Amino acid sequence: MRMVDLIEKKRDGYELSTEEIHFIINGYTDGSIPDYQVSALLMAIVFRGMSERERADLTLAMVESGEKIDLSQIRGIKVDKHSTGGVGDTTTLVLGPLVAAAGVPVAKMSGRGLGHTGGTIDKLESVKGFHVEIDKDEFIELVNRNKIAVIGQSGNLTPADKKLYALRDVTATVESIPLIASSIMSKKIAAGADAIVLDVKTGAGAFMKTLADSRELAQAMVSIGNNVGRRTVAVISDMRQPLGFAIGNALEVKEAIDTLKGEGPHDLTELCLTLGSHMVYLAEKAGSLAEARTLLENAMKDGSALEKLKVFLSSQGGDASIVDHPEKLPQAKFIYELEAKEDGYVAEMVADEIGTAAMLLGAGRATKDSVIDLAVGLVLRKKIGDQVKKGESLVTIHSNFENINEVKQKLYENIKISSRKVTAPTLIHEVSGTM
Ligand code: URA
Ligand code: CA
Repeated sequence: MRMVDLIEKKRDGYELSTEEIHFIINGYTDGSIPDYQVSALLMAIVFRGMSERERADLTLAMVESGEKIDLSQIRGIKVDKHSTGGVGDTTTLVLGPLVAAAGVPVAKMSGRGLGHTGGTIDKLESVKGFHVEIDKDEFIELVNRNKIAVIGQSGNLTPADKKLYALRDVTATVESIPLIASSIMSKKIAAGADAIVLDVKTGAGAFMKTLADSRELAQAMVSIGNNVGRRTVAVISDMRQPLGFAIGNALEVKEAIDTLKGEGPHDLTELCLTLGSHMVYLAEKAGSLAEARTLLENAMKDGSALEKLKVFLSSQGGDASIVDHPEKLPQAKFIYELEAKEDGYVAEMVADEIGTAAMLLGAGRATKDSVIDLAVGLVLRKKIGDQVKKGESLVTIHSNFENINEVKQKLYENIKISSRKVTAPTLIHEVSGTM
């Protein structure tokens, strides 16, 4: 088999066979096929697309390129959740303890974040003593005992995806539904998921800006999942504005605690109950989505979700007393309010730009090597559709810098006030996949 013939085949719009796709991925992973040939193939895929079969083959070839996590020692159906990247997205922190309280085993492999705020591990590290450097056996034992544990990302999952993603980034080939869908799905499958719930974000703050593109990505991932034997559901949720109120690591931990008590922001609570219901249903802990939702609502009401968070934190060395005393979380030195300059209704809160404002405070990493400040960030006081009076606070800014002019300016530029009434955006747009 010669790579040049396969490039030509895809360039001319033909399908690549299973064997050919494995040849390409194996050759690229071991270095025998060079970047320039793979670049040409990727560009041909951008223009020609891939069939459902090719997408499933590409996903499995990337899974096979590296280590696979074996979760077979964990009892029950392991359902993983993936979000296509939001701003102030606190769902993982809430969903873990919440669905674990309903009996779903949560075996989470997580990473550090790049951009707006930290990843799940960074956020959890704002709890003193909490650590994810546990070994595989301990991880499995914790999930069997408590139904929840988080472990740091292992070094060698889907190396083919790592190489391809880096190459796509510099060859203008990221924007391709088959490539994005197989990239995301390969990582979930290699991490050992039996079933997958996807939260596909749509709107200004999201990777996919339009509902049509988000729907296409959602359906592509659901079909890959179903074609490789993983039941998969995708929820398309709105990211025109940040999710919940808090954007920042310790601030989001506090927000997760509130939400697990049933006292969280309405949108975050609703999204967690929706995603969580699909997880519980796919894990076969409830016979219907409605029954699954009732289980989760009860876990919020009766305190079992909060109790689960305490057990989870303390089992991995964390100080669980922060759950009842969130004031023990890292606190910023200065607190400022961003005052509205006029009366009206909030019309826009550009999610990714507000995320960037949080990053300027130090809540996120501008580059891989940046050090994040766990205490800082933003708490939104208003959301799209809310009425606001001149002088009222739009955002509370938690900062360790005294001078925050740049942050304030960025926020003012990206929070638009209208004199006319504005309707709040729909949170859940649609759901694709098995019911
Ligand atoms: N996220 C991924 O993991 N892969 C892509 O290709 C795009 C977004
Ligand atoms: Ca949030």
